[in-house]
Amino acid sequence: MNNNPFSLVGKTILVTGASSGIGQATAVACAAMGARVIITGRNPERLQQTRDRIEAQCEAIIPAELTQKEDVENLVKSLPPLDGAVMCAGNSTTLPLQFGTREKFDEMFDVNFFAPVELMRLMYKKKVLQKNASVVLIASIGGTHSFMPGNGVYGASKAALNSFMKYAAREFASRKVRVNSICPGMVDTPLIHRGTITEEQLAEDAKRYPLGRYGQPEDIANGAVYLLSDASSWLTGHDLVIDGGFSI
Ligand SMILES: NC(=O)c1ccc[n+]([C@@H]2O[C@H](COP(=O)([O-])OP(=O)(O)OC[C@H]3O[C@@H](n4cnc5c(N)ncnc54)[C@H](OP(=O)(O)O)[C@@H]3O)[C@@H](O)[C@H]2O)c1
Repeated sequence: MNNNPFSLVGKTILVTGASSGIGQATAVACAAMGARVIITGRNPERLQQTRDRIEAQCEAIIPAELTQKEDVENLVKSLPPLDGAVMCAGNSTTLPLQFGTREKFDEMFDVNFFAPVELMRLMYKKKVLQKNASVVLIASIGGTHSFMPGNGVYGASKAALNSFMKYAAREFASRKVRVNSICPGMVDTPLIHRGTITEEQLAEDAKRYPLGRYGQPEDIANGAVYLLSDASSWLTGHDLVIDGGFSI
């Protein structure tokens, strides 16, 4: 008998964005806690790298471009009944307003807001999310704080996701499906290194964090494990800030 309330043994969990960064660490952490994990992302080689790290705990790899309607529908059709889902897929661009365009803003909202909303809608409607399932949305402290210049539309997309989370938590509670979000501060993943901010600027910015460093993907993955597990079974509609004290 397993008396550990944080255990994920017997649970089947979907992780989006599992080919990189926070999503990859979340898939690995869920597997380590005993879950069967279904991973999705776009890049087949990086998805395979995630599978190599979780081996037999990987139930399936289902590649999908989550801004494409057909891909999302096919993904949902391929899924077994789920005990949990972690929506990590997302993107960020540092883009001062004067250099932005409406098309770029639409792209940001498509991947960070509409993609997880549509996936959740279909998974709930098709009853892929079983009774007592737990959904975790990866939002950002950018939704509540101007953490880095040029991230206004990114922040707005995450604020929208966090707001949606609370409405979904209330609606889905009738089937005992829980919905929570995590708001990370800056986390050391490929995402923060492919923009216009230099390594020197990142190192300087990390000094603003009271705990003296940016997060590691595992810092966020461990929060997701808690929200997926029975240890959080009376928690819904909550945004869990994991930011090394940045937002104090
Ligand atoms: N890193 C941070 O500082 C930070 C802070 C706060 C919040 N977040 C949020 O955390 C989440 C994960 O970010 P990360 O830092 O782990 O970034 P990452 O390393 O760049 O990983 C992003 C993941 O999202 C997937 N993805 C992106 N666009 C997609 C699309 N249109 N369809 C399907 N999959 C897509 C990528 O798939 P491919 O590999 O196939 O491209 C990849 O697996 C994002 O929502 C991000 O906004 C990150």
